[in-house]
Amino acid sequence: MTYAAVRAHTNIALIKYWGKRDEEFFLPMNSSLSLTLEKLYTDTFVQFDEELTEDLFILNGKKQSEKETGKITRFLDLFRAQAGVSYRARVASINHVPTAAGLASSASAFAALAGAANIASGLNVDLRTLSTYARQGSGSATRSIYGGFVEWNKGTSSEDSFAIPIDEADWDIGMVIIAVNRSEKKVSSREGMKQTVETSPYYPAWVATAEDDLSVIKDAIKERNFEKMGEMAEHSAMKMHASMLAAKPPILYFEPASITAIQAVQKLREQGISCYVTMDAGPNVKVLCRLSQAGLIKEKLKDFFKEEQLLITGPGKGIRELTEDELQK
Ligand code: DP6
Repeated sequence: MTYAAVRAHTNIALIKYWGKRDEEFFLPMNSSLSLTLEKLYTDTFVQFDEELTEDLFILNGKKQSEKETGKITRFLDLFRAQAGVSYRARVASINHVPTAAGLASSASAFAALAGAANIASGLNVDLRTLSTYARQGSGSATRSIYGGFVEWNKGTSSEDSFAIPIDEADWDIGMVIIAVNRSEKKVSSREGMKQTVETSPYYPAWVATAEDDLSVIKDAIKERNFEKMGEMAEHSAMKMHASMLAAKPPILYFEPASITAIQAVQKLREQGISCYVTMDAGPNVKVLCRLSQAGLIKEKLKDFFKEEQLLITGPGKGIRELTEDELQK
């Protein structure tokens, strides 16, 4: 087969990945753990074609620049080298991100591209190995190969720094995403983590505590202890942001509305609603909650945010191949 289309969902880390020990192979300083999300995903079609003289990349119907296409070329080269394919490829992607959310994600993008390239090139490696390929597009993409709660084991080399599915998250788990700001982030996560590793005196503390945090959250998931899981997720996010605030120059992703969201969630907890915040390399706030309470939480958040800024999602599945019918070209 020379073409394939694959869907991959994005994920939000509960134990964050922040910092690389190897930038070429995207080997992380610490293991991480995430929740794959149902409502945010990318569909990607890849076709290797002997007629093409260069790779072509179309995103949401728009032909991409040389720079953006170059990233795709470097990534596809991993597959071409292993599969012994020399043809250039046509790549078409559609990001299914509700417009309000403004959460286009490299995680679903590279997981979908990896999934489609794996089939289209005839390489057909297993999912675990595929996660090591996705990793080399973007670290967080490692975890988007699988659904539910997923661990990314930092490993000792490129071969064993892979994703492991932990739990399907089918026990009333959900997220309310608060889209604080839709504009491009000022400092990319790639730059932000590099600056933190190099200059933050708090970074060693981040690394020293990450493995314990991971083991606590894995226990919490095993015990289905939602509060223990949420408290640890919130702690990991705040600790990551504390490490970057101490970088030189400081990295600050919070906006006033991010603080409003965090305080609103604290209030909800005081009212007996179990929910916790997490934030990534941007001002948006994600609220980890019981899926059955997500509607109620959204209603309460409407005191501070507009309807179109709030998105409820349940856990998503791992990557899957799309049928001809599902393909929107
Ligand atoms: C804060 O995966 O975007 O979202 O590996 O350089 O592509 P690169 O970075 P990326 O970083 C994600 C950082 C984070 C935390 C996380 O997803 O674990």
